[in-house]
Amino acid sequence: MRSLIDIVDFSVEELYGLMDTASDIIAHPERYADACRGKKIATLFFEPSTRTRLSFEAAMLELGGSVIGFSEANSSSAAKGESVADTAKVISCYADIIAMRHPRDGAPFVAAQNASIPVINAGDGGHCHPTQTLADLFTIYREKGRLNDLTVGFCGDLKYGRTVHSLIAALARYTGIRLVLISPKELKLPENIKTEVIAKHGMEYVETSDLEGAMPALDILYMTRIQGERFADKDEFLRLRDTYILTPEKLVTAKQELAILHPLPRVNEISVKVDDDPRACYFKQVSNGKYMRMALILKLLDEAKRNPTRVPLICEDGAKIIRNRMRCSNSRCISMVEQELDQVFKLTEPEKRICRCIYCETKETATEEDLK
Ligand code: NCD
Repeated sequence: MRSLIDIVDFSVEELYGLMDTASDIIAHPERYADACRGKKIATLFFEPSTRTRLSFEAAMLELGGSVIGFSEANSSSAAKGESVADTAKVISCYADIIAMRHPRDGAPFVAAQNASIPVINAGDGGHCHPTQTLADLFTIYREKGRLNDLTVGFCGDLKYGRTVHSLIAALARYTGIRLVLISPKELKLPENIKTEVIAKHGMEYVETSDLEGAMPALDILYMTRIQGERFADKDEFLRLRDTYILTPEKLVTAKQELAILHPLPRVNEISVKVDDDPRACYFKQVSNGKYMRMALILKLLDEAKRNPTRVPLICEDGAKIIRNRMRCSNSRCISMVEQELDQVFKLTEPEKRICRCIYCETKETATEEDLK
C-alpha cells in the first residue's frame, strides 16, 4: 500500500503513467464510471478549501464511488483535541482512502504512518501540495507537449506557497528547466529548497523582483497568491499583498505560446481582464486537476488491493535515523502539537551533521552527542 505525501514519492515514470490514465479518462469517461463502485474517500479538511476538496469529491463520484468527510477542523474531533494519528486510525475503519489537508507541516505524513488505508496529502501548512502539482504538471504537459526545456517563472509568495515548493521539486527531475523566481525580497524561495532541490539537481535559476523584466523569456508563468494566513506579521502582509498584479498590458512582451498558470484561489494577482487571453490556463488547470486526482485514486486503490501492507515512509534510502534526541524548531511542525509523537530526524549530510525533521523537513544541526 502506498500514500502520496510528497510529489517525489512517485517516480517520473509513475507521473507519466498518471498523465496517461488522466488522458484516457478524458477521452473515455464512460469506461471509468464504475471503477470505484462501493469505495469511499474520506476528505479530512482541517483547513479551508474549495477546489481541492471538491476536486477530490468530484473525482471519486465520477469514478462511481462515494464521499464522507468534513470541511473544517471545528466540525471534527480535532476540536476536542483528537490527535492526527487517532483520526487516521478511526477513519481507516470507515473509508478506503483519505485525502487530508491540514495547517500543520507533516500532518498527512503522520496520518499515513497510522492509517491502514492510503493517505493523500491535500496540502500541509506551508510545506507541500503534491496533488496541485499533478494538476500543474498535466497542464504544462498538455499545453506545451513536454516537461523539459522550459523557462518557468514563479511569481508572488515563493516563501509560503506550498504549491511552488512542490512544483519546483517535481520540475527538478526533468532536463533543461530554467527557473525565474520573481518575488519581493521578504517572500523569496526558502534557502533549503535552493540548496537541496535546485542546486542538487543543477537547475539554472535567477531571482528577481521584476515581473515585467522577466516576462519575455518565459514559457510558463506560475502566478501565486500572497499567503496572508501564514504571516506572523499582518502589517507585512498588508504591505506586500498587491506587489504583483498581472494585467493585459504586462503581457505585451510575453511569448505568444506562454502558458499562465495559477493554483487558485486568485485574490487580485491576475486581473480578470486576462481571463479571455488564450494564454490563460488557470481554469483548464482546475479541470486537469480533477482528472489527475481520478488517476491517483485509481492507482492508490489498486496498489492497496495488490499489497495491503503499509510501505514504511521513513528511511527507505538507508540514512541514519535520530530519535528523540533533538527537537524541531519549526513552530508549524506537527511534532510541536501531536500527542507523544517521537521527534525523528534523518541524517542527510553526515559530514556536516545536518539532519532533517521527517515530518516537515526542517534542517537542524546535530551535536556529536545527538549522533551517538
Ligand atoms: C493552493 C493551496 O491551497 O496551497 N490552492 C489550491 O489548493 N488550489 C494555493 C493557495 O491557497 O494560494
